[in-house]
Amino acid sequence: MSQIKFYQGENVPLEMHKVRIVQKLNLIPVEERLQAMGEAGNNTFLLRNRDVFLDMLTDSGVNAMSDKQMAAMMQADDSYAGSETFYRLEAKMQEIFGKDIFLPAHQGRACENIISRAFVKPGSVVPMNYHFTTTKSHITLNGGRVEEIFIDEALKITSDHPFKGNVDIDKLVALIEKEGAGNIPFVRMEAGTNLIGGQPFSMENLQQVREVCDKYGIMLVLDASLLADNLYFIKIREESCLDKSIREITREMSDLCDIIYFSARKLGCARGGGICTSRADLADEMRELVPLFEGFLTYGGMSVREMEAMTVGLDETMDMEMIDQGPQFIEFMVEELQKKGIPVVTPAGGLGCHVDAMEFVDHIPQEQYPAGALAAAIYIVSGVRGMERGTMSEQRDDDGNETISNMELVRLALPRRVFTLSQVKYAVDRIVWLYENRRLIGGLSFVEEPKVLRFFFGKLAPVSDWQTKLVAKFREDFGDSL
Ligand code: F0G
Repeated sequence: MSQIKFYQGENVPLEMHKVRIVQKLNLIPVEERLQAMGEAGNNTFLLRNRDVFLDMLTDSGVNAMSDKQMAAMMQADDSYAGSETFYRLEAKMQEIFGKDIFLPAHQGRACENIISRAFVKPGSVVPMNYHFTTTKSHITLNGGRVEEIFIDEALKITSDHPFKGNVDIDKLVALIEKEGAGNIPFVRMEAGTNLIGGQPFSMENLQQVREVCDKYGIMLVLDASLLADNLYFIKIREESCLDKSIREITREMSDLCDIIYFSARKLGCARGGGICTSRADLADEMRELVPLFEGFLTYGGMSVREMEAMTVGLDETMDMEMIDQGPQFIEFMVEELQKKGIPVVTPAGGLGCHVDAMEFVDHIPQEQYPAGALAAAIYIVSGVRGMERGTMSEQRDDDGNETISNMELVRLALPRRVFTLSQVKYAVDRIVWLYENRRLIGGLSFVEEPKVLRFFFGKLAPVSDWQTKLVAKFREDFGDSL
C-alpha cells in the first residue's frame, strides 16, 4: 500500500524537487533551551523562533514555496478593488473545484467565522467527523454545539484502518433523527482530520454522508485545509480511485459538497483562505460578512502577493509528485519511531507525526497535561518544537472543570518540502533517547490560564524539578554535545 519510493532496498522517500534557497538554523545548548522553555511558560507556542532548531509546531504558513509561486508574486496587481490577481485566483478556484463563487478570507478560521455567523444559530447542532479547535470555538460562540460522529477506530492509536477520518453513518442518522434536521445547519467534513492525527476520510464515506444530507435536506460543508493529504491517501488507498487523477478526485469530492472552505496556509502553500460554493443563496448569506470582517471582496484580508502564490500553489497541489512528499516523510518518521517502540498514531497520516503521550508518559495524569509536558521535554532535549494536542488544547466547562481530551498527542508537524531526511532522523534519535528516560518527565500545571484557546498563550510550570534532572541526565549521556 505504501507509495514510498525505494532506494537501494531501503524504504526511503525521494524528493522530486531540489532546494534553491536555504535559511540558517541555530541550535542553542540544552541549558539555554531549558531556560527558553521556562520563559515560554512551558508552552511551545510562546517560544521565540531564534531558540528553535527544527520548527515542527505546525505546517501552517511555513511550507516551502516553489520557484513558480515566488515568480508569480512579482506579477501581483495591487488594487483595493477589482485586482486582476483576484480574478486569476477566482478562475483557478473555478477550474479546480468547479464552483463559480469564491469569497476570499485572510485564513481558515476567518472562513469559519463567516460560515458560523451565517448559518449557526443558538441551539444549532453541527455534526462532524471531528472538531478542530478554531471551528469548535466559532460554532460555540454563535450558540451552536459540535457533535462528533467518528467511527470507533478513529480514537485507536494503533490501527491499520485506512480511513480513520470517516463518519459513522448510523450515528449520523441517529443524531439527525434525535436533534431534528431543522436544528442542523450543516454537516462538516474535515479533510485530513487534524486532531486525530491527520487521518483521511474516504470518497465512499463522503458519498454516504451526501446521501444522508440529501435525504434530510441538510447542507454539506468541507473543511479542505488538509485536502492535499486526504487526496493523496484516497488516491493510494481507495480501490475505486486508484486510476483517477488528483484533479478528478478533487472534482468528485467538490461536487458532493455545498460549501468548501480552507486555510491556504496549508492548502496551496501560501497564506490566506477562502470559501467556494456554486449556490447563490448560500453565498448571499455570507458575502456581506467578507467586507465587514476581512476586507473588500477582491482581496478578503490577503496580500495580493500571497494570492498569486496561492493560485500557483493550488495548481501545483493537483500534482501527485508534489503532494506525496509530506505524507511520505511522515510515514518514514512514524516507521522509524515505531521500530524503536515509541507509541505513535498509525497508520501514518498527513500533517505530521503524532506521538502518543498517554502511553509515552503514562505516569502523568491527564490533569497534568502529559502531551504538554512531553512537548516541553522534547524541546529541551532536542530543540525540536512540537505542539500539544490533548487536554491543554481543550477548554474548561462552564463550571471550571477540565475537559479531558480523548487523546494526548504531541504533534511533530512536517511542513511540506522544508526539512531534510537527516533532520527527521535527528528528531527521531532524540525522541528515542527521551523515551529511554521517560520516567524523568513530570507534569505541568497552569500559572496563567486564559479562558478561550488557552493552549495558545497560557503559561505553565513543572510540578517538580523534573526538567533540571532531565537536563542533568542529558549532560551525562551526551557530554559536551548540544
Ligand atoms: N481547519 C483545519 C482543519 C485546520 O487545521 C486549521 C488550522 C484551520 C481550520 C484554521 O485555519 O489557521 O488558517 O485560521 N490549523 C493550524 C494547525 C493552526 O496548526 O494545525 P487557519
